[in-house]
Amino acid sequence: MTAKFPQGFVWGTATAAHQVEGGNTASDFWAMEWAEHSLFAEPSGDACDHYHSYEQDIALLKGLGFGAYRFSIEWARIEPEEGFISRAALEHYRRVIASCRAASVVPIVTFHHFTAPLWFTRDGGWEDKKSVDRFARYCERAGRGLSDLIGFACTINEANVPMLITAQCEAGKPWQRPDRIKAFAAERGWDGERFAPYLICNGHSATPNLIAAHRKGYESLKSAGVTCPTGITLAMQDWQAEPGGEALRDRASWLMDGQFLESVRGDDFVGVQTYTRVRLGQGGMLPPPKNAELTQMGYEFYPEALEATIREAARISGCPILVTENGIGTEDDSRRMAYTRRALEGVLRCLADGIDVRGYIHWSLMDNFEWLEGYRPKFGLVGVNRETQARRPKPSAYWLGEIAKSNRLPPSNDPTVAT
Ligand code: BGC
Repeated sequence: MTAKFPQGFVWGTATAAHQVEGGNTASDFWAMEWAEHSLFAEPSGDACDHYHSYEQDIALLKGLGFGAYRFSIEWARIEPEEGFISRAALEHYRRVIASCRAASVVPIVTFHHFTAPLWFTRDGGWEDKKSVDRFARYCERAGRGLSDLIGFACTINEANVPMLITAQCEAGKPWQRPDRIKAFAAERGWDGERFAPYLICNGHSATPNLIAAHRKGYESLKSAGVTCPTGITLAMQDWQAEPGGEALRDRASWLMDGQFLESVRGDDFVGVQTYTRVRLGQGGMLPPPKNAELTQMGYEFYPEALEATIREAARISGCPILVTENGIGTEDDSRRMAYTRRALEGVLRCLADGIDVRGYIHWSLMDNFEWLEGYRPKFGLVGVNRETQARRPKPSAYWLGEIAKSNRLPPSNDPTVAT
């Protein structure tokens, strides 16, 4: 098997607005992070102050050897009150995208990455049918302001995540909005039954709206003049059955991945995001095998999942594949290189079998705010000093940057390369 990736293969790193920008004060997550009985380990605060240091960060990733940068624009900044589109916020993102272009970095822009304006989430979020038109309207307006500059557009990041989390919570009993979320909303005089943030909403109600919102958002972007490849991204698992778990595996894989992949047939690409596998036995999801190496997220270290999910995504959707996220939360950077090498070997096997994989975007450019977990998990190729905001590339950043520059995976016996 050749170690060479096809000409034009896209190499990049990723972030998301709320996780790196800092000060996302009009968003639903910001409000929840500061609640007295918050579900979050700590608030996002200034994050990596990427809102101000985007230019240096883009120069950094370019200098390391990457040709693409995936990031999200923040709906809560662009439409902080329903119907009010902030020209200043759109101008900011035009500058970010223009900085990418000036550095010859392809901007891969995500329109929704978990966070939403507080007004949206207070009024039912994705559980409410109105979300479809609200999202499409935002895509149309933001798309019109940025259309000429974007390299790839992703509508919704991990549109299957509400379903995935709901299913994980539903061990036998129907999903319920957590009491702490209801109390949080009620204390502020909001309707606790309708306060529906992305990671904590009812996946059964949200999923049809998310699928429809992607479709309508896709059309809105196109009619706003976005001509670049446009698609959705999905949090895919390598669903595996232990003996007796086959039926459950098939059900889980359709509910959490398959139905989404079917709905995006004909799109320009589908974004595959993979971190691990999930094994199912007769009684449900199984924990990682005994003695398995675990990542900081408690996931099994299992980079082969990327190959399996690329194959599955291509088979069901028929779309070209862009790996929009893949990576590992670890303090041990040598494990990051080992993980990524094995994941990339899987990408090469997919390419050798003729699967149209367009690129690999590593999560993440830098250590950042890992949602409910706060700043503890370290997914970055670049470390960030939380006091000074200084960036420090890790060995993996140089290693993966070299792979990106040469467009090939060096043999694993190469002494300069992690195995
Ligand atoms: C999300 C990122 C997150 C990463 C690592 C993905 O599910 O898109 O926002 O930080 O996984 O957990």
